[in-house]
Parts: sequence; structure tokens; C-alpha cells
Amino acid sequence: MKETKDKRLFPLIHSQSKPSNGHRYPRRGEVSVSRCPKILKMIRFSGLIALILVLHYTDAFFPLMPGDHVIPHHMLRVAHTNKFVAFSAGLTQIATLHASHNDTVPYDRVFLNMGGGYNKTNGIFTSPRTGTYVFMYYALAQQNKQLQLDLYRNDDYIVGSYAHVTSDYGSVSNSVILGLDEKDTVHIKAHTDDYLYGQPDEIYTSFTGFLLVPDEGRTQHGSHGQGSLG
Ligand SMILES: *[C@@H]1O[C@H](CO)[C@@H](O)[C@H](O)[C@H]1NC(C)=O
Ligand SMILES: *[C@@H]1O[C@H](CO)[C@@H](O)[C@H](O)[C@H]1NC(C)=O
Repeated sequence: MKETKDKRLFPLIHSQSKPSNGHRYPRRGEVSVSRCPKILKMIRFSGLIALILVLHYTDAFFPLMPGDHVIPHHMLRVAHTNKFVAFSAGLTQIATLHASHNDTVPYDRVFLNMGGGYNKTNGIFTSPRTGTYVFMYYALAQQNKQLQLDLYRNDDYIVGSYAHVTSDYGSVSNSVILGLDEKDTVHIKAHTDDYLYGQPDEIYTSFTGFLLVPDEGRTQHGSHGQGSLG
């Protein structure tokens, strides 16, 4: 009875012919007895790795994203490539802007400029690649002064902001998602004569943008009939 059980558990060992070199069969509990389960474990482990790789390179980990359609997996991984675009800059000085000069806000302290699209000399962001971008801007007026700042894509007015607080500091902000083709520009422009407040250690005025989805630029969005500006 015991012999049958052992044969069932260790068929490889029992099917071997007697070693001719004088070595005895390994006894139960010795290292070579557990060789068979070890191989099975290795096969199972590599199978698990293969499954993980298959799931990783298909969309299986992201089967149900919100929205109309599943976001393609290569887009979810865009942040891990050198094609990601993101910038953020702030104003560290008091600035007076004139609409008659087409002045843009000269955000002079650059926190981040992935993709190199933002130019701090003129405050203009130039899209390094076609895509859908998110933009946000915030500003603080000097005391008693007005502030009216507009966001432009190329030569087109997109959104504006306005504040005029007497005896205090007014603030403005706005944000927008825009399709940009490569080389399109976005900047924040003075609508009137604007008085901005800032100091090296008091940065209330900032401009931020980043790539949300690659490849869907201004022209593609225009063909979907979104907005009169196209
Ligand atoms: C300001 O911009 C407008 C529109 O792009 C242009 O027609 C005008 O000549 C510019 N003015 C100055 C002073 O650069
Ligand atoms: C940034 O803007 C300035 C002023 O328009 C220009 O002279 C300079 O070439 C620009 N820098 C880059 C890297 O495009």
C-alpha cells in the first residue's frame, strides 16, 4: 500500500533504472525528490508572468474607462514617453501691460517646461506637437487696479477674465481645453491697460498648460464642428 502511494507521488524516480554508478535512489525528503514539484512551480510562475505581460500589452487592465469609448492603452502611457508636454510659469514682479502694445504676461519664473514649448522671454507657448491641451491661468491685480486678461490661440480670442476691485486686490482666472496643431501658439494677452502684482516670494499670477491627449489637434477638432473658431 505504501509502495503504491510512493510510486504515484514520485513516478519519475520510480521509472528510472537503477543507477549504474553505484548511487542509491534518493530517499523521500532528500533534495532530488522535490525536483519534480520545483519544475512545476517554475512552469506555473513563468505562466503567470506571461499572463501579466499579455494583460499589460493589451487593454485588459483598463476595460471600462468613463466616456464614449475605451481610451487606447498607448495614450494612457503617454506620460512615460519623451513626447509628453507640460509647462508651468509664474510672475515674480509688478507688471504693467498695455493692450495697445499687444503685451503678453511675461511669466518669468519657469517651474517646468517639458517639451520646451514655453518661451519665458515673450510669454508665448508654442505647441511642440499636435494634441488636445489643458490651459489654466490665474492673476492678481495691483491694489485698486483693474485686470482683464484674455487667452489667445494664435490670433484668435478664446476666453477672457476680468476684475476691478476698489480699495483691494482683484483676482482673475479661467481655464480651457483646446486642440492645437504643431506650432500653434497660446498666450495670455492684455485686454486693457493691466496692472499685475507679483514678487519673487509672492507668485499669485501663473500660467499652466499640458498635453491631455496626443494627436487630436485643432484641425481634427474643427472637423468635428466644435466651436466657431474651429
Ligand atoms: C496687435 O495685434 C493685432 C492683431 O494681431 C495687429 O493687427 C496689430 O498690428 C498689433 N499691434 C501692435 C502694436 O503690434
Ligand atoms: C523666445 O522669444 C524671443 C523673443 O520673441 C526670441 O528671440 C527667442 O528666439 C525665443 N526662443 C526660442 C527658444 O524660441
